[in-house]
Amino acid sequence: MTDWISRWESNNIGWHTDKVNRQLVEYLDELKLSSQETIFVPLCGKSLDMNYLYQKNYKVIGVEMSELAIQRFFEENNLSYSVSQDGEFELYEGDAIKIYCGDFFDLQSNHLANVKAVYDRASLIALDDELRQKYIKHLNDIISLDVRILLLTLNYPQHQRSGPPFAVSKLEVDKLFKGSFDFQELNCINDIENEPMFQNLGVDFVEKAVYLLQKVRI
Ligand SMILES: C[S@@+](CC[C@H](N)C(=O)[O-])C[C@H]1O[C@@H](n2cnc3c(N)ncnc32)[C@H](O)[C@@H]1O
Repeated sequence: MTDWISRWESNNIGWHTDKVNRQLVEYLDELKLSSQETIFVPLCGKSLDMNYLYQKNYKVIGVEMSELAIQRFFEENNLSYSVSQDGEFELYEGDAIKIYCGDFFDLQSNHLANVKAVYDRASLIALDDELRQKYIKHLNDIISLDVRILLLTLNYPQHQRSGPPFAVSKLEVDKLFKGSFDFQELNCINDIENEPMFQNLGVDFVEKAVYLLQKVRI
């Protein structure tokens, strides 16, 4: 299993970018959120996308196991925050962004009571096959009916490099969410020309896909 805490301590965080994700910008409206509604960002790191959502007048709830990541998020974005204890989590709270520091798998539905949407970038694909199934099952257990999910994935020939990020195909997304969710692929492109690390490893293609899911059954 990836040692995320030591990756944060040694600043080995190649997934982090200093730009807002362009797929989020393009497809955010698909979540059909009204101003001040709450969006959940699981395994949030110090993603700038959270600040973008805040600037767009949404409330944000994140969960992240690295306290360093959370402190850096607030400090690098010049956002003031307070810290308190909430059960097994340390809760970092800014104006309209709160981040639970701890294990995603310890979150319960009461933590996400007002959540209307989920934004997953580099979270599902950060996990190996076994954890991905556990992650979607738990996510399903703690979100309410009707919640929409904007999910960004990568797919590439897994035998040509090891994860994370792990390859997640459309077939797998379909299987993971089958039963409780409506499923729609919004976009899928081969973006290998913008992925020099994959090119250097001789990877044939890198598909970047955007899915919209909605929980329609308990
Ligand atoms: C690949 S990074 C993606 C971060 C963020 N989504 C982004 O787009 O920048 C995955 C993050 O998940 C965190 N993480 C991994 N497993 C976790 C868990 N079980 N609970 C909470 N955070 C976790 C790691 O510390 C890391 O910051």
